[in-house]
Amino acid sequence: MANIERTLVLIKPDAIEKRISGLILDRLDRLGLQLTGAKVVSPTEELIRTHYKHLAGTPFVDGVVDYMMGKYNNVPNHKIYAFVFQGEDAIAKVRGEIGSTNPEKAAPWTIRGSFGRIIGDVMQNCVHASGAPDEAEQEIALWFKPEEVLDF
Ligand code: TYD
Repeated sequence: MANIERTLVLIKPDAIEKRISGLILDRLDRLGLQLTGAKVVSPTEELIRTHYKHLAGTPFVDGVVDYMMGKYNNVPNHKIYAFVFQGEDAIAKVRGEIGSTNPEKAAPWTIRGSFGRIIGDVMQNCVHASGAPDEAEQEIALWFKPEEVLDF
C-alpha cells in the first residue's frame, strides 16, 4: 500500500537572500509530490522557538533563532517561505533532496550541500524539511491553519 505522507518545507532567510528559492522549489517539484500549501511568513520569535523546541538548551539555539529571524541575512521583514508537500514517501524524498543538516557534510548535489554554509556556530543550510510523520503533522499545524492546506 502506498505510504502517503505530508511534509513541511521552509525556505530559510539565507536562501531568500541568495535568490535561490525558485531553484529549491524546482528541485522539490521534480520529486513528483503534490504542493498543497504555500505562504510567506514573517515569523515571531515564539514561532521559531516552538518549531525548534528540541534544540532548547543547546549552545547554538539562540544563533539558530537569530538566523531564522533574518538577523544574518538582508531580507526585509525577516521572511520565510513555507510549503506543504504531499505524496508517497514525501518525508524521505524531500530529506534526500535537501541533504544532511551540516552543509559541509551534505552530499554536494543536495540543496544544503550545494548552497549551505556554516557561519560561527550556526549552520545556514537554506531549507528545513520534516524528519518524521508525527513531526511533520505537528509542524504543519504550527505553520499553517487547516484551511490553508489543500485536502487531497
Ligand atoms: P536539527 O533539527 O538537528 O536538524 P534538521 O534541520 O536537519 O532537522 O537542527 C535544526 C537546525 O539547527 C539545523 O537545520 C541547523 C541548526 N543547527 C546548527 O546550527 N548547529 C548544529 O550543530 C545543529 C545540530 C543544528
